[in-house]
Amino acid sequence: GVAFEHLLVSSPKPGVGLVQLNRPKALNALCTPLILELNSALRTFQSDKTIGAIVLTGSEKAFAAGADIKEMKDLSFADAYGNDFIENWSDLVTFLKKPLITAVNGYALGGGCELALMGDIMYCSNTAVFGQPEIKLGVIPGAGGSQRLTKAIGKSRAMECILTGENILAKQAGEWGLVAKVFESPQECVDGAVKMAEKIAGFSQIAVKAAKEVVNKSQDLGIREGVEFERRVFHGLFGSRDQKVGMGAFAAKQKPEWTHE
Ligand code: CAA
Repeated sequence: GVAFEHLLVSSPKPGVGLVQLNRPKALNALCTPLILELNSALRTFQSDKTIGAIVLTGSEKAFAAGADIKEMKDLSFADAYGNDFIENWSDLVTFLKKPLITAVNGYALGGGCELALMGDIMYCSNTAVFGQPEIKLGVIPGAGGSQRLTKAIGKSRAMECILTGENILAKQAGEWGLVAKVFESPQECVDGAVKMAEKIAGFSQIAVKAAKEVVNKSQDLGIREGVEFERRVFHGLFGSRDQKVGMGAFAAKQKPEWTHE
């Protein structure tokens, strides 16, 4: 594979792409070169037909401690606005049609929390610390935190987190449904994420893509339009080969051999 300065990229199981943020001296602070590498790694997995799902994780100590404060501290308004600072972060989610699981151990602060929230499924271990400490730096979340965290845990809890800069610990994250599962250790968290990614990668990529698309629509549409959208996409799948494969295999009591077509 391609060598990156701030990432480790591998495929630990069939169909699974794994990206580990690897900038240990700065607790995986998300400097621009790291974000560009992450974009590139995710794009490579996106276009790799053998990859069905992707896991993004950090180290045991930190998923990511935020945007790089040292890189940002001297930016002027004109620099930030003129160059649309961190706009390239939004590429990470909008182009990615394959499922992304974020596996959080240790700190996921500021932009790190926001990056974790970009996962289609979030997992963490009991060491995870989520937070939006931007208020302490004289700013606010800038990579979707005010929107995605609020959708995930509700307004009052999100307001409390964003206005006070107080962290959300793993147990709370599990109880509030911020994450789908809380694992007992960082290793179990990454292994568990890879296992679920492998499971997803075992299905028709066409159906998986459609499933991700319709669930994401629920974030933007009202229930009526959302349900209609879902039904149209469902209808569309009767044009896929894998619908015939899947239902045919069920009727014949066989294992489906997906064609991803
Ligand atoms: N940016 C740049 N460098 C960072 C960083 C960040 N976000 N977070 C940590 N580092 C660096 C530290 O400066 C330190 O570097 P040196 O060894 O050169 O001094 C190194 O990583 C290790 O960090 P600490 O010594 O601070 O480690 P710790 O264990 O004592 O504390 C911590 C860990 C509580 C996470 C602490 O590092 C911290 O508070 N970090 C900043 C968290 C933060 O405010 N994040 C939000 C950033 S703003 C943002 O993300 C905007 C946005 O919405 C996009």
